[in-house]
Amino acid sequence: MANPDAAAANRETWTRNSGFILAAIGSAVGLGNIWRFPGVAYESGGGAFIVPYLAALLTAGIPILFLDYAIGHRYRAVAPLAFRRIRRHAEAIGWFQTGLLFVIGVYYAAVIAWAMSYFVYSFDLRWGEDTQTFFLSDYLQVGDPEISTTIVGNVALPLVIVWLVILAVLCLGVARGVEKINMVFIPLLFIGFTGLVIRAITLPGASDGLNALFSPDWSALSDLDVWIAAYSQIFFSLSIAFGIMIAYSSFQRRKANMTSSGLVVAFANSSFEILAGIGVFSALGFLAYQQQAAISELEGLTGPILSFVTFPAVISEMPGASFWGALFFGSLVVAGFTSLISLLIGVSSSLQEKFGLSRVVASAVTAGVSGIISIGLFSTTSGLIALDTVDQFANNIGVVSSAIIMTVFAVWLARDADLLRRHLNAVSTFHLGKWWVALIGVVAPVFLATMLVQKIISIISDGYEGYPQWYIGIFGWGTIALLLIGAAALTLPGWNGRDYPGFQAWPPLDTEQKKEAVR
Ligand code: ALA
Repeated sequence: MANPDAAAANRETWTRNSGFILAAIGSAVGLGNIWRFPGVAYESGGGAFIVPYLAALLTAGIPILFLDYAIGHRYRAVAPLAFRRIRRHAEAIGWFQTGLLFVIGVYYAAVIAWAMSYFVYSFDLRWGEDTQTFFLSDYLQVGDPEISTTIVGNVALPLVIVWLVILAVLCLGVARGVEKINMVFIPLLFIGFTGLVIRAITLPGASDGLNALFSPDWSALSDLDVWIAAYSQIFFSLSIAFGIMIAYSSFQRRKANMTSSGLVVAFANSSFEILAGIGVFSALGFLAYQQQAAISELEGLTGPILSFVTFPAVISEMPGASFWGALFFGSLVVAGFTSLISLLIGVSSSLQEKFGLSRVVASAVTAGVSGIISIGLFSTTSGLIALDTVDQFANNIGVVSSAIIMTVFAVWLARDADLLRRHLNAVSTFHLGKWWVALIGVVAPVFLATMLVQKIISIISDGYEGYPQWYIGIFGWGTIALLLIGAAALTLPGWNGRDYPGFQAWPPLDTEQKKEAVR
């Protein structure tokens, strides 16, 4: 039997608490904040979206972030092993989450590759006048929803670079790779992006953009889809319920102020998100002003089109266009990379723990397999459509299911919630009361389950974006099936003692438990 203390001693750790906090902020602040939030908020009631957004943050986002932290920190392992240490048979929950990391990682990398290309294109404003034709036809060469094998070189080349960088960072590991990168790039990202936002709000027409974003449409609050959008946004944006935060907190030292760090991370993430909303909509106000149009007459205010079609059009109109373009797409690249690293380190650490691989081998397998799939699927002429479909299913069905399963398991099946609460309280200064257990045990799962059922019904009855049924079957439901089969299959091989049956969770350090620990 492996010696648990030796195992704990060998485990990589952050070198300082600020390293953990910056890495967690780096993971949270990503493409979701810049290309997803502004459009989602605009479409979902504008200023009124703040109500479901805050409700989602307070009733599910922060409570589930704490649950992730508690599981990772107490059981000192990434998701599969952490769940196994709670209950042997729960390992599959961890593999389901690891599968989500892998699936999200393979398409997320493609968006970073686009941003890298656009960073370069900023210098000569290569997208020209017709930014839509440039993005869809010249750059992505988008075809029909089909299984295309035609690789688009423009996308494949930066995508290869993305995966090589990821390989290097994974090989360097937690302290020398992930921590160092975040310590340098996250402050730079905040400074650069704040500069961009200040420039945007001083452009003519900016106030019209902000009015469009923040004018509340209260009737949106009676629309369940708006609430689903708010919860999905919070989950994706905070990087919760899919194993990342379990991994990151498992690399924390024993003495670590977990809940206070969590509040800092959640606050930083939401602030960045709102900052991005302000910057993007000020810039859109400027575009509308230039075109003598109303914001509502502009097209392409959501998703990839917002960042890669509408934004280049805005940038071309700005004085000093190349500089601001490079800053915007550079920010997208940095924000994306620090999140992609967190997705992939969860996968490689899971393989390391289960199969006893060295860090370099696990990193090579993770980056190699993900890279090949990522390039094979998302740099083809059907890459954009595949990405949109997989993203929709992985987030709105995969991540939401994962959150329901995790909370119900922790609170009702394993009955571990109170222990986890005491664990967090023992190491943290911000203490959680029983209300936390009520939120993760009742409020969050009931709400999430309602949303999930509604979402599944709407996809089954209305389809998605008008894509053919067979296509939704393969790329949408197929993704979910793959996650389930993968989770079951990866549970089958034995651990050969690597799950440390003698492992003792760190006890909560309240008085009685402290005595136990000392003995
Ligand atoms: N949390 C990351 C994002 O917002 C995944 O993009």
